[in-house]
Amino acid sequence: MNRKSTNIFWHKMQINREKREELLDQKGILIWFTGLSGSGKSTVASALESKLYDMGKLTYLLDGDNVRYGLNSNLGFTKEDRSENIRRISEVCKLFVDAGLITIATFVSPFKEDRDRARKLLGDDFIEIYVDCPLEVCKKRDPKGIYKKAISGKIKNFTGIDSEYEVPHDAEITISTHISSLEDCVNKILNYINL
Ligand code: ADX
Repeated sequence: MNRKSTNIFWHKMQINREKREELLDQKGILIWFTGLSGSGKSTVASALESKLYDMGKLTYLLDGDNVRYGLNSNLGFTKEDRSENIRRISEVCKLFVDAGLITIATFVSPFKEDRDRARKLLGDDFIEIYVDCPLEVCKKRDPKGIYKKAISGKIKNFTGIDSEYEVPHDAEITISTHISSLEDCVNKILNYINL
C-alpha cells in the first residue's frame, strides 16, 4: 500500500461496528451496481433502497453523478481519474459499511481492476450487481441526452463510445433491465441479500 502519511496509528474506538450493527439490528453490506450509463443502475438502486426503507433498514446510496458534484468534483473521465473516483468511493463505502449501513453504490465503474480493488477492500461485505443492458438500448434510452453528445464527439472518453466497458464475469448477481421488469430486478437482489 502506497501511503504518503507516516507516523500515523489506527485508533481503536470503544464503539465498534458490532455494537452499531446490534443497535441498528442489521448488518452492514455494500451493494455495488456496475453498468453502462443509461443501463438502469440508479433506477433499480433507488427502487431497492425504497423497499429496504419500508423494511426498516438504514441505507445510504452513493451515486456517480451525485458524488461527482462534491467529493469527486475534481475528477474527470480519463482512466486514471475513473480509477481514483472508484478508489475514493470504495473507501467511503467501507466507512459506511463499518457504520452498519446497507450501502448502495451506483457507478459505471467500467474497469475490472477498479471493481476488484473494491471487492478486495470490502471482502465478504461486497456484492456486485452487473446491470446488463445492450449499448443500443442505452443509446435509445439516453435519459440525459449524453450519448447523443458523445456520438457527435462533444464528450470524450465516453463509456461504450470511445472508452471501454469491461463486462464483469464474477458478479454475484446479473440483472437484465431490457428484459426484466423493475420489480423483478429488485426482487432478485432482495432474495440474494436475504435480510
Ligand atoms: S465512472 O466511470 O467513474 O464509474 P461515474 O459513475 O462516476 O463514472 O459517472 C458516470 C456518469 O457521469 C454518467 O452516468 C454520465 O451521466 C456522466 N458522464 C459524463 N461524462 C462521462 C463519460 N465520459 N463517460 C461516462 N459517463 C460520463
